[in-house]
Amino acid sequence: MAVILITGANGQLGNELRSVSGNFYGYDFIFTDIGELDISDNSLAADFINKNKPDWIVNCAAYNSVDKAETETDKAMLINCTAVKNIAEAIKGSDCRFIHVSTDYVFNGNASIPYDENTLSDPQTAYGRSKLAGEKAAMLHNNSMIIRTSWLYSRHGANFVKTILAKARKNDALQVVFDQSGTPTWAADLAEAIMNIISSVIRNQVAFNAGTYHYSNEGVCSWYDFATEIVEEAGLNCKVLPILSKEFNAVAKRPNYSVLDKSKIKETYNLEIPHWRSSLRKCIDQMK
Ligand SMILES: NC(=O)c1ccc[n+]([C@@H]2O[C@H](COP(=O)([O-])OP(=O)(O)OC[C@H]3O[C@@H](n4cnc5c(N)ncnc54)[C@H](OP(=O)(O)O)[C@@H]3O)[C@@H](O)[C@H]2O)c1
Repeated sequence: MAVILITGANGQLGNELRSVSGNFYGYDFIFTDIGELDISDNSLAADFINKNKPDWIVNCAAYNSVDKAETETDKAMLINCTAVKNIAEAIKGSDCRFIHVSTDYVFNGNASIPYDENTLSDPQTAYGRSKLAGEKAAMLHNNSMIIRTSWLYSRHGANFVKTILAKARKNDALQVVFDQSGTPTWAADLAEAIMNIISSVIRNQVAFNAGTYHYSNEGVCSWYDFATEIVEEAGLNCKVLPILSKEFNAVAKRPNYSVLDKSKIKETYNLEIPHWRSSLRKCIDQMK
C-alpha cells in the first residue's frame, strides 16, 4: 500500500487533502502538521521520514505572511526553504516522489501574458525569494515536482474570500484594488488535482514527470472582480468599489499580473481545471 505523507496538513491545502483523501482508497495517508512533524527540524524530519518510509510526500507547510516576511525574513527562509531542504535531503537518492507547493510570487508581476514554467523567476518580495529558494531546495531530490499556485482560498484558515465575506457582512461598502489581476485557486480543486496525479501515476496511467508546473483555476480577474463575485454569490448587500493598488498601501509589493499558464500540468497529467467562478460558487455553498 502506497504511503503518502502530508506535511503542513492543518492549513488550507492540507485540510482539503484530508477531505479529498476519503475518495482515494488503498493508500496509507499520514497527515502531519508542526505538532507531529516540524519539518524545520532537520533530525526530526529525517527520523520521521526514515521511520515511515513514505512513497510520496506532499509538502503543504509554508510561511505565507507576505507582508510580515519583509521583517521576519529568517523565519520565512526557515519554513519556506530550510525545511524543504530537510525533506529533500532525507529522501535524496530514493524513489520517494516529492510534491512541493510554490507560488506566483516567484515572478516579478510585470508580464501581460500568462507565465509558463520557462519564464525567468524574479521575485520582488522576501516571501517570493524564500519560496524560490524552497523550489531550488526541493530540486536537490531527483523525483521532485513543484506546483506553483496563486490566490489560494478555501473554507479553512485565513484567506481573501473569508476576509471579504467578514467585511461585507459588517459594512455597506468595500474598497478593493482593480489594477492587479490573476487567478483564484480553490484549494479543494488543487487537492483533487494532486491526488489525481498521485493515483494515476500509481495506477500506471501516466508517468511521473519531475519538474515545475503551474496550477490555478481557469480564467482571469482582478481582486475587485473577485470581491464583487464573492459578495454577489453570498447574497450580501455591500457595494464593492474599485481602487488603485497605490491607494491600498501594502507593506510588500504585490504583482500587477500573476496569471499562470496551466498547459503543462493539464497535458502531462490529463487534468481538467474548473473555472474560478464555478469553484468559488461551490466554496461559498460549502460555507453557507
Ligand atoms: N495562501 C495563498 O494565497 C497561497 C498562494 C500561492 C501559493 N501558496 C502556497 O500554497 C501552499 C499551501 O498554502 P496554504 O494557504 O494551504 O498554507 P497555510 O494555510 O498557511 O498552511 C500551512 C501550514 O503549515 C504549517 N507549518 C508552518 N510551519 C511548519 C513547520 N515548520 N512544520 C510543519 N508545518 C508547518 C502551518 O502551521 P501554522 O499555521 O501554525 O503556522 C499551517 O498549518 C504553500 O506552499 C503556499 O506557499 C499559497
